[in-house]
Amino acid sequence: MRVMVAGAAGAIGTRLVPLLVAAGHTVTGLTRSASKTEALMRADAVAVAVDALDAATLRKAALDVRPIVHEMTAISGASDSHAFRSGVHRDQSPADGGPDNLLAAAREAQTRRFIAQSFCGWPYVRTGGPAKTEEDPLDPSPAREFRNTLEAIRHLESAVAGLPRSTVSSCATAPSTDRAPDFSTA
Ligand SMILES: NC(=O)c1ccc[n+]([C@@H]2O[C@H](COP(=O)([O-])OP(=O)(O)OC[C@H]3O[C@@H](n4cnc5c(N)ncnc54)[C@H](OP(=O)(O)O)[C@@H]3O)[C@@H](O)[C@H]2O)c1
Repeated sequence: MRVMVAGAAGAIGTRLVPLLVAAGHTVTGLTRSASKTEALMRADAVAVAVDALDAATLRKAALDVRPIVHEMTAISGASDSHAFRSGVHRDQSPADGGPDNLLAAAREAQTRRFIAQSFCGWPYVRTGGPAKTEEDPLDPSPAREFRNTLEAIRHLESAVAGLPRSTVSSCATAPSTDRAPDFSTA
């Protein structure tokens, strides 16, 4: 398949791209930074330097790829609640963020499959047992620092669920800042 990974130079992207290439897929990796394209090319990916806030260029990049994997986030410094809040507010706001542009590009390209990274753990309401499923409710009143993030998570999950074939995968790991080499997905 011709797979496009948005956020290809991130903690998850840098691990995912070589796995996809090794599995025989042709991978297009997106990054905002021209300096990171070289590493992507060394991993045998096609590197495209684009900011997801640039909807027009993103649409062009998405034209010939299926599926699209969304691994973007602006949360760097997630252990710092202020950085956490402002990072999400800046690039993941539902109104004008990169994820929505990526979803729009996927719709326009009639992408048959869209895979989005979500998060499980703190977003759940603190009732019931410790094991949670997709059916369990999210926290209706999270702490102020987490409100924008939870709003972005809700928005992404519901937007992705509206696409013809979509998967929301949730990652329960250390925060991005830890660059945890071993992570588990659910
Ligand atoms: N790592 C974890 O432990 C973990 C745990 C739970 C959930 N997640 C979720 O997994 C996803 C990926 O996380 P990560 O840890 O890999 O994040 P990361 O290391 O911060 O990487 C995110 C990537 O997103 C890209 N990005 C941000 N804004 C962009 C924009 N406007 N246009 C294009 N690219 C943009 C950045 O690319 P450039 O800098 O190259 O431009 C960056 O490399 C996120 O949704 C995150 O919430 C991660």
